[in-house]
Amino acid sequence: MALIFVLGLLTIFSSVNCRIIEYVQQPLGKQLFLSRRIVTDSSEFDGGVLVNENGIIEAVLERDVVNSLLTQNLDDLKIIDGGNLALMAGVVDSHVHVNEPGRNPWEGYVTATQAAAAGGVTTIIDMPLNSIPPTTTLKNLKTKAAAAKEEVFVDVGFWGGVVPGNQEELLDLIKAGVVGFKCFLTDSGISEFPMVTRNDLAEAFAVLNGSGTVLAFHAELSENNQGAECSGSDCPDPILYSTYLASRPDEMEIRAVSLVASFLPQTDVHVHIVHVSAEGVVPILEQARDERIKAGYKGWRGGVTAETCHHYLTLSSEMIPPGHSEYKCSPPIRNITNKLKLWEYINDKRLDLVTSDHSPSVAELKGPNFMTAWGGISSMQFDLSLFWTEAKARGHSLSMASHYLSAGPARLAGLQDKKGAIRPGLDADFIFFDPDASFLVTPQVIRYKNKISPYMYRVMTGKVMRTYLRGQLIYADDELIDGPKGKLLLNEGFSY
Ligand SMILES: *[C@@H]1O[C@H](CO)[C@@H](O)[C@H](O)[C@H]1NC(C)=O
Ligand SMILES: *[C@@H]1O[C@H](CO)[C@@H](O)[C@H](O)[C@H]1NC(C)=O
Ligand SMILES: [Zn+2]
Repeated sequence: MALIFVLGLLTIFSSVNCRIIEYVQQPLGKQLFLSRRIVTDSSEFDGGVLVNENGIIEAVLERDVVNSLLTQNLDDLKIIDGGNLALMAGVVDSHVHVNEPGRNPWEGYVTATQAAAAGGVTTIIDMPLNSIPPTTTLKNLKTKAAAAKEEVFVDVGFWGGVVPGNQEELLDLIKAGVVGFKCFLTDSGISEFPMVTRNDLAEAFAVLNGSGTVLAFHAELSENNQGAECSGSDCPDPILYSTYLASRPDEMEIRAVSLVASFLPQTDVHVHIVHVSAEGVVPILEQARDERIKAGYKGWRGGVTAETCHHYLTLSSEMIPPGHSEYKCSPPIRNITNKLKLWEYINDKRLDLVTSDHSPSVAELKGPNFMTAWGGISSMQFDLSLFWTEAKARGHSLSMASHYLSAGPARLAGLQDKKGAIRPGLDADFIFFDPDASFLVTPQVIRYKNKISPYMYRVMTGKVMRTYLRGQLIYADDELIDGPKGKLLLNEGFSY
């Protein structure tokens, strides 16, 4: 047992009401993280978290236990005291489009995962589309993983894709370790990732039945199965947001979710609806869940879950200025009544997780025309601050943020025994968060590749001060620490 006790570097890390004093020791041994506010997904308490040499949480301790521990022999223990800063599980963002390889000018693993680290996001799950190739075959997954493997600053998992004709690939992708699959019920906007028809879906459900995987849906469906866009002189002014909003009404989401629900009696596959915008889909999903549970389904949340995104909880259609397509995403941001209803569902735990749907593009694809601009909002770097800005103003707790941003997405991705909470046996993916600090979003602050944001020059409440990945400091004092330390979350035996 090494008893080297190096009180080498003493760093004092201060903010308004706290400081972190850190005794840096070589080599990295056991660590004890202290905070007056340790946040779990159901409570907060004053105490410490003991982390072993492998970056795994060994024990979660109340303050009196910490105090008695501190009177003992601490020779090889490094103490990191966050004072009044909240110690929270790192955010898990299960909906991120990294775009690499193939659309590197849009985003990439280095910039996306650096933005993640700065935002306290310690795990991202990459969506199967917008990269070329898309993650629809095992070979394509290998191409993608090879592009990512030396470059990631946080841990990265992968969704596979269901597209017409790739049923044969799905079980191999599961074996390789994809967290689940995503498909589109409407045009994805990306020609390499075509939407599925009812028949394609029936085939995919048949192949996936019994596999224990998740099938996630971009749930918009227009009546004639075509885009709702108009043409020529019939079109209302495309510079106005209301024109775009009218082209993708609530009914498209409701129709899609009803189609998904109609498959449930014949399958045991967990279905998940990504980026719910229209509040009206929530009761439909709840009914589907109830029926499934009554029919004997035993899995998490009756195998029916849904996420919403920060932009639907932060923005509303009334405030979107003409020509500002940095606000464009699909499904669209709806009106204030809809936003308030989504918060009601968040309050009542009737939604399961909140994600960014970080979907960047180059500036040339944006422009003032809402109908032709690329639909996608980049915000993963601000996940927690965005949610907290709204949640705090509504009197919610940090535990609620952990529930929706860490525990929920980790559970969806099947990572609940590794990620998303402060609990013995899980990875020590932590953040120190100052819930009372505020900061301004500026191009200089943004670390993702294209500095486009509907939140530009907005003030955010709550700031990530430090980020730890498996016990290792990866971000502090507005700076990234060292090179990439992230891992790809694929199954053992996966070969590139
Ligand atoms: C799906 O799998 C379940 C067992 O998990 C089985 O009871 C059911 O019959 C299967 N459905 C189909 C359509 O194969
Ligand atoms: C918001 O949109 C819904 C559905 O489109 C509509 O029924 C409602 O009246 C709208 N509310 C406001 C305040 O515009
Ligand atoms: Zn998306």
